[in-house]
Amino acid sequence: MDRFTLKPIGIIHTPYKTTEDCPKGDYHNKGVKAYIELQPEFKDGLMDLDGFSHLILIWVFHESEGYELIASPPHDEEQHGVFATRSPKRPNPIGLTVVKLTRIEGTTLYIEDPDMIDGTPLLDIKPYLLPPETLGEVKRGWLDKKK
Ligand SMILES: C[S@@+](CC[C@H](N)C(=O)[O-])C[C@H]1O[C@@H](n2cnc3c(N)ncnc32)[C@H](O)[C@@H]1O
Repeated sequence: MDRFTLKPIGIIHTPYKTTEDCPKGDYHNKGVKAYIELQPEFKDGLMDLDGFSHLILIWVFHESEGYELIASPPHDEEQHGVFATRSPKRPNPIGLTVVKLTRIEGTTLYIEDPDMIDGTPLLDIKPYLLPPETLGEVKRGWLDKKK
């Protein structure tokens, strides 16, 4: 199969210095402040982004080594297939996080509610578009049984 080379567009700066410091799931609406330093060459790509309240960040688990197809999520005694989890040890170590956008100054994007460590390479930014009712009923698989 083809391989693809990805180039970071910036770096995410967060208060979390180690993976142990990072939130393990419940990180929305906590007001934890962070920022993104975008590479200057991508500045024009920020045009009109400031009207969006939330962003989808696509980033690299750059401190993960290798992958495990069976994952053991924190705070859960049972194991699950990696694709049924958000484990950092994935065949392609790509992270996806919805954050709040508070403001943009030049190539600095101020955000809230990160769950990645300081210095994480950012691959892409997309505006978050879906209002909660769009998807209809959302099932959360094994996570719903934990309630
Ligand atoms: C459970 S993952 C979820 C990340 C993202 N929300 C997702 O769904 O892809 C978040 C955990 O990944 C780990 N982590 C965060 N940043 C990382 C990085 N740059 N490299 C490796 N592991 C990282 C931390 O242990 C953090 O608690």
